[in-house]
Amino acid sequence: MEMKEYKLSEPVRKGDMSIEEAIANRRSIRTYSEEKIGENDISQLLWAAQGITNEATGFRTAPSAGALYPLEIYVVIAMVEGIEAGLYKYNPASHILILKKKGDIRDDICSVSLWQDSIKNAAAVIIYCAVFKRTFYRYRDRAAQYVYIETGHAAQNVYLQAEALKLGTVAIGAFYNDGVKEVLDLPGEEEPVYLMPIGKK
Ligand SMILES: Cc1cc2nc3c(=O)[nH]c(=O)nc-3n(C[C@H](O)[C@H](O)[C@H](O)COP(=O)(O)O)c2cc1C
Repeated sequence: MEMKEYKLSEPVRKGDMSIEEAIANRRSIRTYSEEKIGENDISQLLWAAQGITNEATGFRTAPSAGALYPLEIYVVIAMVEGIEAGLYKYNPASHILILKKKGDIRDDICSVSLWQDSIKNAAAVIIYCAVFKRTFYRYRDRAAQYVYIETGHAAQNVYLQAEALKLGTVAIGAFYNDGVKEVLDLPGEEEPVYLMPIGKK
């Protein structure tokens, strides 16, 4: 099978908005304009979610219990400059997207997320999935709690990064796990935890 990869541009480490402004102004936004967002926006948002910030240790933008990194990030691309529509998996180590499925699958995700319009109209949708056993091996009965907490860390990074990019997003917990697994054709060990549609305000 052809493995199509897309090298994302280098994320920036400095921006125009202060962290205080991003925190103060962040709001859940559920309707988006029909404009495309930039490839650099996707690069920056995925980096904020789970990018590597220390090459030597592999430590990432968001904290992780025992640095075990149970999260796997997918992105549904629909209206992004320079990236063809499809389902991609984010690879933090090389900051690339790996194509999993071609085409615009927003309606499919929408139909397993209680028909929330925010998904249907997004330029892209970030999907946080988790491999619970990575954390379970060490933390046992604490593992599920740790994985959910960690997803929240990554999602808050994306909320704040989206604000700094003047983009809108909303954290979505209401969806059918089995439905999302089927639409994404997820490996059995990966469980969807959170969705975040992204678009221009
Ligand atoms: C765990 C969790 C699940 C959520 N699920 C949804 C959802 O399914 N759909 C939605 O539109 N918003 C969802 N939200 C967003 C909340 O509705 C939103 O954060 C709340 O109304 C406060 O607004 P604010 O984020 O603008 O401050 C969720 C938020 C959290 C923390």
